[in-house]
Amino acid sequence: MKRTMIAGALGTICAMGLGTVQAAPPADWGKVAATEITLFYPGVSPMEWITKGTEHGGARALKTGDTCADCHSDETAKMGQLIASGQKIEPAPIAGKAPFIPVKVQAAHDGDTLYMRFSWKQPKASGAAKMDDKNPMKLAFMLDVGKVEGAEQSGCWASCHADSRTMPGAADSKKKYVKGGALAGGVFYDLVQWRSGEKKGFDGHVADTRVMEGGKALVAADGKLDGDTWSVVIARKFTGGEGDVALAAGKTYNFGFAIHDDHAAGRFHHVSLGYKLGIDAKADITASKQ
Ligand code: HEC
Repeated sequence: MKRTMIAGALGTICAMGLGTVQAAPPADWGKVAATEITLFYPGVSPMEWITKGTEHGGARALKTGDTCADCHSDETAKMGQLIASGQKIEPAPIAGKAPFIPVKVQAAHDGDTLYMRFSWKQPKASGAAKMDDKNPMKLAFMLDVGKVEGAEQSGCWASCHADSRTMPGAADSKKKYVKGGALAGGVFYDLVQWRSGEKKGFDGHVADTRVMEGGKALVAADGKLDGDTWSVVIARKFTGGEGDVALAAGKTYNFGFAIHDDHAAGRFHHVSLGYKLGIDAKADITASKQ
C-alpha cells in the first residue's frame, strides 16, 4: 500500500464528517476477502428458550459442545422466514419485516488497528411504526476473549435473556447482560455500534448490564447507503480501555453482529450466530495485516 493511497483514503473519510481519524483503512477493500454471513430475525429465542430441552431441539447438543453454527449456519434464511412470518417463536410478527439479511464481512489490520467492513443490500421497509425514529439502521458487533460463558458456542446469544427490555412481559429498564458479568473480572462482551441517523459510533460493553460508552478502542466508524447498498466501516485499536477486548496477532475471538434495520429497537433486530474472528489466524473471518 502506498502512502499516497493511505492519505487519499484518510482524506475521503474526513470529508464524510467522521471527526478525528487516527488511522486509515485498507486503500482497496476490493482486495480483502469477504465472508458472507446471513443474519436472521430471531423472534423471541432467549438463552432460556435455547437451553430448555423441551422447547429447542439443540439444547442437549449444546451441553456437549456443539455450536449454534454447527447446526444452523446453512439455514439461517429459512429460520428467519419461519420466525418473521410468525410461524415460530414470534408472538407479534411485523408484516413485511425482512426475514433475513445476507451480509459481506471483511476484516483487515495494520498492526495496531482492526478495520471491519460490513456491506449488504438494504431490505424493503416494512412500513410499520418506527421504534427508533432517530435511526433507520444501526449496526453492532460484539467480541469476547473466551471469558463469557456460552459465547464460544453462541456469539452474542449469551447476552440474550427472556427478562430483557422488549421481550414479552419484560421491564423496560432491564438491558442486556451476561451470566457472572463483571468488568473487573474480565467477563464481558466488547460492544461497538454505529447509528445511521445520529451518524455516530459507540464503544461500550455488556457485563452485568449494557453500557454504550467508556471504551477507548474505537477510532472511527462510518456508514453510507449507496443506492440500495449499505457499507459500514469500523476502525478499532487493538487495545483500548475499560470494556475493550485487547486484540493480538495469532489469536481468535468470539464474534457476533447484528443489524437493527427498518428503524427497529431492542429484540426486533437481525442477528448472526456465533463466529470466530482471527487476527492473522485462521477463523471464519480473518483480519490479515495489510
Ligand atoms: C444439535 C443441533 C442444534 C444446536 C447446537 C442448536 N440448535 Fe437451534 N434448533 C435445532 C433444531 C433441530 C431446531 C428445530 C426444532 C426445534 O425447534 O427444536 C432448532 C430451532 C432453533 C430456532 C427456531 C427456528 C427454527 O428453525 O426452528 C432457533 C432461533 C434456534 N434453533 C437457535 C439456536 C441458537 C441461537 C443456538 C446456539 C445457542 C442453537 N439453535 C443451537 C438444533 C440445534
